[in-house]
Amino acid sequence: MINRRVVLAGAGGLVVAGVAGRAWQQGLLGGSDPALAAWGDWRSQRQLGALRLVGAAVLAASPHNTQPWSFAIGRMGVDVFEVPGRALGSMDPFGRERLAGLGAAIHNMALASTSLGRAARVQLLPDPANPQHVARVLLGPDGSGPAAHPLLPVIGRRHTHRGPWRGGLFSGAKLNELLDFPAFPGVKLALFEAASPRGQRFAALTADATAAIAADDAMMADSERWFRHERSDADRLMDGLTLATSGISPSLAAGAALLPAQSPAMQGRYWLAATKDVHLPTASLFGFIVAADPHDRRSALLVGSAWQRLHLNAVAAGLAAQPLNQLPEIIDREVQMKQAPRFARAVDALLDDPAWRPSFAFRIGIADAPALPALRRPVSAVIGPPARLAWEVEQWRSAGGAF
Ligand SMILES: Cc1cc2nc3c(=O)[nH]c(=O)nc-3n(C[C@H](O)[C@H](O)[C@H](O)COP(=O)(O)O)c2cc1C
Repeated sequence: MINRRVVLAGAGGLVVAGVAGRAWQQGLLGGSDPALAAWGDWRSQRQLGALRLVGAAVLAASPHNTQPWSFAIGRMGVDVFEVPGRALGSMDPFGRERLAGLGAAIHNMALASTSLGRAARVQLLPDPANPQHVARVLLGPDGSGPAAHPLLPVIGRRHTHRGPWRGGLFSGAKLNELLDFPAFPGVKLALFEAASPRGQRFAALTADATAAIAADDAMMADSERWFRHERSDADRLMDGLTLATSGISPSLAAGAALLPAQSPAMQGRYWLAATKDVHLPTASLFGFIVAADPHDRRSALLVGSAWQRLHLNAVAAGLAAQPLNQLPEIIDREVQMKQAPRFARAVDALLDDPAWRPSFAFRIGIADAPALPALRRPVSAVIGPPARLAWEVEQWRSAGGAF
């Protein structure tokens, strides 16, 4: 006869087997992770020639990790195209952030060109007939380029850090390293020490903007579309946000991965709590990247390039960085919904000159542990239509028939 203890032991065994099965399904028991292979490909310099530029481009920051890019490769360079369908909907109603992601990729490509020893020239928006053709990176002959850029190894170590940081100030030497910047025409930085009155105002407004977004069902639903809770989705799509990079501890992330995905409303509540209790109070520095017209396509690209460079500089200086774009996002949403510009006016009051509009907001600080890498589609998945032969022939003719 089966007694109670045997039944309970059997039930316990089933529960353990169920949890183990779910842990296996969610990739918590180890094994390789093809959606992270692009990071190793860059570190081992696996790509040769112009392909290496794409290997660096795919590691750039992009809004919600949408990776809104495709590339066409030729012997003389690489064309970069916007993929408008990789969109955030009401979170980015004018595609401004999508262009910033492309600008980030273009900056990585310019840096990567220095590893080939070929001079690079970047043309933004080279084809007025095709606005989606956002850049052409032209490569000169072998041996024409500058020395390898010191940030090249940092491209593979730059990760958005959403965890708790130490707070407090960092040294002036680190600040100088952070701000060691080429000029990005038409784009400026506005920085606030976190503890200063303006820093506190930035934090209060960002918390308010987060609450407004969390209460906007359309924005939360559009955001949720890029969240990959199931490992099978992460492996298949290789894009979007995951628990592992959400800033919670690895054990909490593993526990949460065993459960079903949260609703957008619940995610909004956790995000608001993390913003108010972790992101804002543990930062050292807040800032905006500002532009005269954030919706101008060229400016939006340059804002993204500036962010990529700032983040690479931060990592090189041993600092952590995270975009906190709730204010620019809610300002765009006010415009889209034809609402009174409450947040836009509040940010005007924070910045000295209302002629400069906020296009990107962020925090910088000191973290004890590094951030983890986010998913990426590999180079092979983002090379679009074959290289543009007409362009190659045109270049070949203008070079007098010699490459
Ligand atoms: C235009 C833009 C806006 C972003 N906004 C935010 C943000 O508000 N909060 C955040 O945590 N990360 C933000 N990010 C960071 C992306 O989520 C991140 O780059 C992407 O998930 C890939 O991860 P990685 O930067 O670690 O490679 C933004 C990135 C870009 C380019």
